[in-house]
Amino acid sequence: MKDVEPRRARPPIEQIAHEFDLVAPIYDRLPLAANSSTRFVRYRLSNRRWSALDVGCGTGRTVCSLKGEFKHLFGVDVAAKMLAVAKKRCLRRRVPVRLARMDTCALGFGDETFDFVLLHTVLHHLEAADLALVEVRRVIRRGGRLLIVDILAEKVTGHAPIVAAYLAGALGAGKTLFTEGFESARSTWHAATSSEWLAHQRGECFLDERDFRAQCSRVFPGASISKRAGEFGLTSFVVVEWEKPA
Ligand SMILES: C[S@@+](CC[C@H](N)C(=O)[O-])C[C@H]1O[C@@H](n2cnc3c(N)ncnc32)[C@H](O)[C@@H]1O
Repeated sequence: MKDVEPRRARPPIEQIAHEFDLVAPIYDRLPLAANSSTRFVRYRLSNRRWSALDVGCGTGRTVCSLKGEFKHLFGVDVAAKMLAVAKKRCLRRRVPVRLARMDTCALGFGDETFDFVLLHTVLHHLEAADLALVEVRRVIRRGGRLLIVDILAEKVTGHAPIVAAYLAGALGAGKTLFTEGFESARSTWHAATSSEWLAHQRGECFLDERDFRAQCSRVFPGASISKRAGEFGLTSFVVVEWEKPA
């Protein structure tokens, strides 16, 4: 089968972790980082007898919002500071989530551990996506389910990621000014428009729909792959659903 090459080399994992560590304290204040998959999971996939894993859980928004939907919740991420925010959120909201620092390419779980695995806007960051997807497949039990949601490249090329970063910074800072005061608003703006975060935005390697289909259907044969419009029509998402054959 033909190999699918990413459009440019993805940054190494240490750099990804560093970039997310940098924005971890303000990540949840950025409006364009809104999460689109929770509702989808809740209505289509939740099961109170299942163990669920959120891969690349970031600040824990999704995994926390799944409280009560699954028997056991797990979240892993490579960025220690994103995980630290996730930990605080889980404690504050009393959500029993087991969190750990792990690379998607080397998940420290046994074969067929999870009934449900989610990757929300993570796949496009993975340096070795094929390897990571095979690893994700390994930890899903037979008959278990996978949900991948990711942003498509088509509307986020050229200067769009930089414009989006400034817009997210301005909106995030504006909102923070009213809720948390001037100092928090200022730190939101500085982190959202820092040279490191702008470089991250500039280096984003979103896949287009065709690459996505090729990459996912190779590892998850028979997966349902569909395209959805994102918030305000500014982005498009791809949604991959797969059930591991029994
Ligand atoms: C755009 S954020 C999404 C976070 C979360 N899923 C959400 O929707 O709010 C991408 C996350 O993937 C994590 N990540 C990137 N590469 C990873 C890898 N190889 N293994 C584990 N996590 C990774 C980053 O640290 C970051 O927290």
